[in-house]
Amino acid sequence: MSSPPSRLTPVDDLSESEAETELKNLAIEIARYDQHYYQLSQPSTDDGTYDALRRRNTAIEARFPNLVRPDSPSDKVGASPAAGFAKIRHSVPMLSLGNAFDDAGMAEFIARARRFLKLEESEPVSLMAEPKIDGLSASLRYENGVYVRGATRGDGEEGEDVTENLRTVIDLPGELQGGDIPEVIEVRGEIYMELQDFAALNREREAEGEKIFVNPRNAASGGLRQIDTALTAKRRLRLFAYGWGETSEPIGGSYGDFLEHLKSWGFQVNPWAARCKSLDAGLDHYRRIAAERVNLPYEIDGVVFKIDRIDWQQRLGAAGREPRWAIAYKFAAEQAETVLEKISIQVGRTGTLTPVAELEPVAVGGVTVSRAQLHNEDEIKRKDIRAGDHVIVQRAGDVIPQIVRVLADKRSAGSKEYVFPSTCPECGSIALRESGEAASRCTGGLTCPAQAIERLRHFVSRDAFDIEGLGERQIKAFWEEGLINSPADIFTLEERDKSAEQPLAGRKGWQEKSVANLFAAIATRREIPLERLIYALGIRHIGQTTARLLARRYGDFSALRDALGAAAQRDSEAYADLVDIDGIGSAAAEALVDFHTEEHNAETLDALDAALDITPFEAPAATSPVSGKVIVFTGTLTQMSRAEAKARAEALDAKVSGSVSSKTDYVVAGEAAGSKAKKAAELGVTVLSEQEWLDLIGGYTNLH
Ligand code: IVH
Repeated sequence: MSSPPSRLTPVDDLSESEAETELKNLAIEIARYDQHYYQLSQPSTDDGTYDALRRRNTAIEARFPNLVRPDSPSDKVGASPAAGFAKIRHSVPMLSLGNAFDDAGMAEFIARARRFLKLEESEPVSLMAEPKIDGLSASLRYENGVYVRGATRGDGEEGEDVTENLRTVIDLPGELQGGDIPEVIEVRGEIYMELQDFAALNREREAEGEKIFVNPRNAASGGLRQIDTALTAKRRLRLFAYGWGETSEPIGGSYGDFLEHLKSWGFQVNPWAARCKSLDAGLDHYRRIAAERVNLPYEIDGVVFKIDRIDWQQRLGAAGREPRWAIAYKFAAEQAETVLEKISIQVGRTGTLTPVAELEPVAVGGVTVSRAQLHNEDEIKRKDIRAGDHVIVQRAGDVIPQIVRVLADKRSAGSKEYVFPSTCPECGSIALRESGEAASRCTGGLTCPAQAIERLRHFVSRDAFDIEGLGERQIKAFWEEGLINSPADIFTLEERDKSAEQPLAGRKGWQEKSVANLFAAIATRREIPLERLIYALGIRHIGQTTARLLARRYGDFSALRDALGAAAQRDSEAYADLVDIDGIGSAAAEALVDFHTEEHNAETLDALDAALDITPFEAPAATSPVSGKVIVFTGTLTQMSRAEAKARAEALDAKVSGSVSSKTDYVVAGEAAGSKAKKAAELGVTVLSEQEWLDLIGGYTNLH
């Protein structure tokens, strides 16, 4: 890692030969970071460090124009898009895990699962505990016992086809052994590198003058994405198997038994995986693994706990991307001391002013950290954080580094309390903090460049339009050059380019080929599912889950726009309908209506409608007897918790609502059902008993 800019010779004092050497090193270093960022999707440094390197490069070039290199980083917007691995859609999504940070968090996890399943107190809940390997997950498909395909996790829905690279993984059986092998099974597990192999790799890279990897995970991840599989093989990647995706026959019994099957088929299962009959036994095992951590030949960052009974796992299902039946109990974070150089302010896409701590770079757990999150004004006040302070920074897993506390005894005499700005640092508009809100927001709206760029960035991000080759840097450059001002401009770029005075292909960093690739990538995204478009708009409070709920409720784009238009009248049925969607609170409803009323946004929506082929919401293929029906649960259910009933109904594509109206299809009345059942009777809505409901949905219990 390069030393912090503050310790470098000031640009004005550099001799010509020093400048030449430095420019050469900067070109190499920046190209490597670009490659990690763009081609391997694994940034190997933070934005602050990267920007500092680029600024320094520009400054030196400005002073020594004759030394500008043919491969100067300032001539490039970024590296070419990732050399294409084909995409693979996971038929069963690859989930992530919620976290617990202490014993209480674990107790809460078990309590939640018990409540959800409505278990008797005397009913024991057996857990499986195993190390959380710090690698990357992969899904391996076997047909008739033969390995046929393998993919990375990607965004959980869609990963990259790395079939051939995975073949080189040391522990990957090409053919399964033993009996009881399903016709089709996707085995999931963690790809990782052993510490000794990692150290050897870095020694070799160092000797060859190449940049070393910061941790085994990055090395493993980069290794898996090599175009040349011989290079993947050299990394000596390994695999611990721990799960499954699509299978031709259901997996039953217990997770512990499944691990035994994996072993008999020839997979490596982590030797520290153990069945724990109670939470206390689980916590004991956690401490055993924590104590053993330093002796393990690979990196782990916690212990994963899974509820052992698979029928319970299936009933528990997932909330968003996190299963309710598994959790990661993380090890305590790593900390280090450094100096906070200054507090800077970032402006987000909804105008939120976020303070960021700019730090003197420091190594924390093997990664260089030069920025930390400060959340908001109140946090800075509460911790009394000031520029120049010595602080403790902490980094836990993938979480953004945080400031734990200030070392007040090291504070210098002249230090001044931090004053949060009252205007937007990007556009100068007044920044307001609404009552009850923690954040100040820029009131500049569309006139604020930072908001405009952030919104575009969100629009093309992975879970939104996901346009390859159109990343943060390109968006910024296009915005600054006035080529893309609003989302719809992306889709007219190619047409405008044809008659442009200065076409893209001649501009800095763009060649015929990269321009053609970009236009092709944009063209493939003209067809977009409604829910992705809604999410891409970046409306406050509207994330992926709420976007999906909206798409599902309104079906297509014009119905959605009509509904939001009508909902501007707060006493309208349309507004009541909107708020009534389970999962859409009043904050989200207000944000939607506000967004829709804003004139500029209406123009944007018109333009997008004209440029795109927005596909209506597609209900999940397996229709159920209650698919599309509106259900209200009321009273006390005896065979399952309200949460499970709701999750199950939603998994069967029904809509669960909190109140009875003429739109309700069924009211499911448990014991002591009150006014809602009465209202249903008045409106002529069918009322079902809990048993009648279960009979109705019976046979559709396959939950995923
Ligand atoms: S189970 C539905 N088990 O942790 C459960 N994950 O933070 C999904 N990981 O994406 C995963 N070791 O890459 C599981 N023993 C283990 C794991 C493990 C590491 C990773 C995995 C996952 C991530 C979630």
